[in-house]
Amino acid sequence: MQSPRASSAVAYVFLCSLGLASPLIAAEPDKEKSLAAFQASLAVFKHPRCLNCHPSGDQPTQSMSMHPHAMNVQRGPDDHGAVGMRCETCHRDANYEASGVPGAPKWALAPRSMAWQGLSDRELCLALKDPKKNHNMSLDELVEHNAKDPLVGWAWNPGTGREPAPGTQEEFGRHVAAWVEFGAFCPDK
Ligand code: HEC
Ligand code: HEC
Repeated sequence: MQSPRASSAVAYVFLCSLGLASPLIAAEPDKEKSLAAFQASLAVFKHPRCLNCHPSGDQPTQSMSMHPHAMNVQRGPDDHGAVGMRCETCHRDANYEASGVPGAPKWALAPRSMAWQGLSDRELCLALKDPKKNHNMSLDELVEHNAKDPLVGWAWNPGTGREPAPGTQEEFGRHVAAWVEFGAFCPDK
């Protein structure tokens, strides 16, 4: 016997394979399907490529072990680094393979309100939806950001020697869209 959660996850994967779990269908709220989609998105949300820029403290972290950024790089007053140690001094619009410095447009640390390191699945889910924490984004804007934003997209093109986030940004965007479409439910823990 499959648990209801497991069979709903299977149904969700089936919907995705048909291309049906897209933001174009106005779905009825469905807690099981929404949670299955959120669960599927977590492998990306909790990947070090994302978390390194969404730290709980005032320093970016780096690599798969998420250790503090070398050279004591700090958040600074505007999330772009302290005076004299600005992110954009080293990080440019694209990865720089010769020196190994990763890059993407508007490279900066996610604001403190978007600190995700150390959050439970439930806390992360609630933080994503909270307009006070996410710069007043609507759920549709949140889907758009995850599916299209270039800083998010960098996680699948992180430069030589770095493990990309799992899947593709498009797949990830579909999971987030389905989570929202089926009611944006959050897990109990
Ligand atoms: C280079 C640093 C960097 C990386 C890497 C990064 N982010 Fe962000 N993220 C930011 C910044 C900066 C903001 C704030 C953008 C703004 O307010 O315009 C942000 C905001 C967000 C937001 C909107 C706010 C919120 O809390 O809902 C989401 C969603 C998000 N990022 C998802 C991701 C995901 C998913 C990944 C990995 C696939 C990722 N980010 C990787 C820097 C980064
Ligand atoms: C003095 C140059 C310098 C400055 C300033 C700097 N960085 Fe970096 N950063 C680097 C280098 C070099 C790497 C690559 C380290 C490696 O992979 O060995 C790196 C790596 C990173 C990574 C790791 C990516 C990953 O997933 O492994 C993040 C995140 C990051 N920087 C964010 C920032 C942010 C945000 C700022 C500004 C607040 C900043 N950096 C300022 C040089 C710098």
